[in-house]
Amino acid sequence: MNETESAIPVTDPFTLFEAWFAEAKEAEPNDPNAMALATATPEGRPSVRMVLLKGHGSHWGDGGGFVFYTNAESRKGEEIRANMQASLLFHWKSLRRQIRIEGPLTEVSSEQADSYFHSRPRVSQIGSAASDQSRPLPDRQVYLDRVAALEERYPEGDIPRPQHWTGFLLTPTAIEFWSDREFRLHDRRRFTREGPGEAWTNTLLYP
Ligand SMILES: Cc1cc2nc3c(=O)[nH]c(=O)nc-3n(C[C@H](O)[C@H](O)[C@H](O)COP(=O)(O)O)c2cc1C
Repeated sequence: MNETESAIPVTDPFTLFEAWFAEAKEAEPNDPNAMALATATPEGRPSVRMVLLKGHGSHWGDGGGFVFYTNAESRKGEEIRANMQASLLFHWKSLRRQIRIEGPLTEVSSEQADSYFHSRPRVSQIGSAASDQSRPLPDRQVYLDRVAALEERYPEGDIPRPQHWTGFLLTPTAIEFWSDREFRLHDRRRFTREGPGEAWTNTLLYP
């Protein structure tokens, strides 16, 4: 590659995401699919936390997307229900790369949520069913007792998925790739589109 050229090719951003994600899976010691999820209240108060990417690609929904699962009654869940917009951030330290993704959210179907919930180990199903995520917990023992009660109630097999445990699909209108370059002359390329069915345009950005 010529040093004067951008290291970030002009291609379909889902394809480029896939290539970088494949490299991250090789390079990252833990959770290459971990991403920061930023949400905001309708008044514009932002909040951010890590979640795991559990589905992605151009085949998702109408215009491709990125899927995560969570408790819809959590803090993030409340913010999402009031303001169906979010931003995702991957930072793969070992690769010195960042990807920022922005767009509207939609809830996945209940079949999709069931299918993913029941693909998880039984102990994870119990852990999430027992958790009033983001609500105050008076004592850790209270949570452990709820876990034990579910284990007793469902001694084997799958646990029913709680209604509030669901997934969200972010359909991107912007995906931005950042790559570390020598002398801090970093590389950025931002892909944007008006909506799901529309064509992507892209531009380099000053780092
Ligand atoms: C690496 C990592 C991955 C996580 N993945 C998830 C996830 O997929 N879903 C989830 O609800 N919480 C996940 N969490 C916990 C969240 O960061 C957060 O603590 C929790 O969802 C409550 O956030 P909230 O109070 O903003 O709703 C993860 C935390 C870490 C550190």
